[in-house]
Amino acid sequence: MSRRHVVVVGGAGAIGSVVATVLAEQGMRVTVTDMSDTDALVTSLAGDGHAGLRLDVTSLEDVHSALGVNPSVGRYDALIYAAGTNYTGPVATTDWAAWDRVLTVNLRGAAYVGQALAQGLEVDPRECSTVYFSSTAGLVGEGGASVYASSKFGLIGFMQCLASEVAQYGARVNAVCPGNIDSPMLRTLAAQVAERNGVATEETLTEFASSTAFKRLIDIREVANVVAFLASAASTGMSGQSVVIDGPPN
Ligand SMILES: NC(=O)c1ccc[n+]([C@@H]2O[C@H](COP(=O)([O-])OP(=O)(O)OC[C@H]3O[C@@H](n4cnc5c(N)ncnc54)[C@H](O)[C@@H]3O)[C@@H](O)[C@H]2O)c1
Repeated sequence: MSRRHVVVVGGAGAIGSVVATVLAEQGMRVTVTDMSDTDALVTSLAGDGHAGLRLDVTSLEDVHSALGVNPSVGRYDALIYAAGTNYTGPVATTDWAAWDRVLTVNLRGAAYVGQALAQGLEVDPRECSTVYFSSTAGLVGEGGASVYASSKFGLIGFMQCLASEVAQYGARVNAVCPGNIDSPMLRTLAAQVAERNGVATEETLTEFASSTAFKRLIDIREVANVVAFLASAASTGMSGQSVVIDGPPN
């Protein structure tokens, strides 16, 4: 049996790179795509046969060429959408350029990838698992998060529709909703929230960590392990689901 080929879109980021690392450790063949350089990451992955590709998810043409009918990355068995960007601020002062940037990468890019996948499946139906990165912010809104939450709520709606459409080909689509992950994105967010509230960044990070009964941030590997399960053929009974990766309520 040939090795499972997984494409990690936005794979050069903090979470995407650990997802790629874990998938490779589990014996899967990984193609990492990102708008940034992927060479160092691809070289570092365990095993052989891995590849990298520069891909801007805001280009419909490039997304179709990479992942659609006759995909340039080759036939793939799983697809992880880990590209994303953030913006925080109250609705009263929303920066609309930031709204466009966040919605374009987090939602429209995800939809481009979903369309390429759907068209590819039509001509090459197969068991194929897609995992989108939403967030706990895609399930419950909170002050200051309207732009990011809009993109992540929207992504869950899109994921459910796509999952229904591609089920006929034997393909699956799920989302993961991580909580507060120990990552540069969360640290940047903590600094911005701290500045708005006139407190220290460390204090805000401690508050984030205390928001569940775990009383700690979630490690990126803990996220990657769940994604690896969803990407594998071990999860064939799941589609259209939003899987929360977070601790229990306080
Ligand atoms: N870090 C967290 O605490 C956290 C929590 C919940 C959900 N998430 C989500 O998980 C995903 C990964 O987050 P992360 O912490 O790794 O962020 P990150 O900023 O480290 O990585 C995001 C990656 O997306 C890539 N990217 C951005 N715009 C792109 C574009 N136009 N085309 C191609 N690639 C593009 C970046 O180059 C980067 O490599 C995001 O969707 C994020 O919203 C993160």
